[in-house]
Amino acid sequence: MERDQVSSGIEKMAYDAESGELPEELLKRGDPLEWRIETYASEAEWWTIRSEGRVTAAVGCLRIAAEEAEVVNAAAEAWDEAGGGRLVLLLQAAAEELQRTGVRRLLAYAGNWETELLTVCQRAGFRIAAIEPDYYASCWPKSRAGEVPRADRLMLELLTEHPDDPEDNSGKAPSGAAGSLPIVRRVELRDSRSLIAMKKQLDRETTSMLYEPGERRSTDGDQFEQIRSLLRSSNSLMLVVEADGEIVGYLEATGGKVRRNQHTVYIVIGILESHTGQGLGRRLFEELFDWAARRHILRAELTVQAPNQRAYRLYRSVGFRLEGIMRGALMIEGEPVDLYQMGCDLRTIRQGRVDK
Ligand SMILES: CC(C)(COP(=O)(O)OP(=O)(O)OC[C@H]1O[C@@H](n2cnc3c(N)ncnc32)[C@H](O)[C@@H]1OP(=O)(O)O)[C@@H](O)C(=O)NCCC(=O)NCCS
Repeated sequence: MERDQVSSGIEKMAYDAESGELPEELLKRGDPLEWRIETYASEAEWWTIRSEGRVTAAVGCLRIAAEEAEVVNAAAEAWDEAGGGRLVLLLQAAAEELQRTGVRRLLAYAGNWETELLTVCQRAGFRIAAIEPDYYASCWPKSRAGEVPRADRLMLELLTEHPDDPEDNSGKAPSGAAGSLPIVRRVELRDSRSLIAMKKQLDRETTSMLYEPGERRSTDGDQFEQIRSLLRSSNSLMLVVEADGEIVGYLEATGGKVRRNQHTVYIVIGILESHTGQGLGRRLFEELFDWAARRHILRAELTVQAPNQRAYRLYRSVGFRLEGIMRGALMIEGEPVDLYQMGCDLRTIRQGRVDK
């Protein structure tokens, strides 16, 4: 067990199943699903507090993107005043240290019935960012009369000040200040309106996307549902680029639906013209590849119109290969246009052996 004294009473630890210093019984108090603990225990960073020589409270955080981390476990031996107080201290210590390493947004999830956890997170500075109704509805037996139904998932976030950005004000809406640098982050339910408006604008300003101007009929509500189903899917991801409080780009990676293709994702990407050529496309792919490595996604695929050299060069440069040509697959302004089918073996990205 590597140990490093962070501040008095709080220790930073790496998980080591052999030593048992971070007891599984304790971690199960923060997450009842043993298999899930196994998937993140060694990858997560752990902050702990001891009493009488043994660890009695622990908080585990996992980096999920360059500027984002998630609290994957917050466990206390007892959910009493002392246990809650220890968790508040641990969450604050974790947020502080993660911030120093570039994390701007720390996420935590809680069930609507987990009132102690909700209290602890809010005392540590988290705010409720979104509610996903009925997220847990099928996981738990129906509640008995008088019980709080175990149904909804609450997403909490703690926005931290960026060390290099004195203008940044934690606690405010993400990247709220005018002229702030665009950030790449995971989509949230609250983005539905801005996202669908941006997709419609893209349809108007480029012929490179699938839809003609005005053809996309989806409403805010449809977009909300799509985000909700993506957030629930373990092999799908949507990233957005936010600038000055508006969505200006997105990358959608939709995972295969059946067992034989659930290791693959199909990619759609679009960035408003005003924000192209600034490296955002490349950043979106970097975030996607980090996520895919953690989810054991092995292949990404997409199609691109043959004349779209800007997109084609981006895809080639991040590791996609041309796999086929669909002749005249689209009719654009009355002319047949070829579509390139491209694929990327994500294992070669992980091994850093991309042949450009
Ligand atoms: C295609 C798109 C996703 C690229 O994203 P971007 O943020 O503009 O690209 P980046 O700034 O990250 O550039 C990455 C690479 O793309 C290529 N590229 C970018 N702009 C280019 C241009 N004007 N001409 C040729 N290649 C270009 C280069 O290879 C560049 O690598 P470099 O920075 O090492 O030179 C974006 O421009 C876009 O969404 N365009 C409109 C909609 C669209 O075409 N979507 C794709 C449909 S398949």
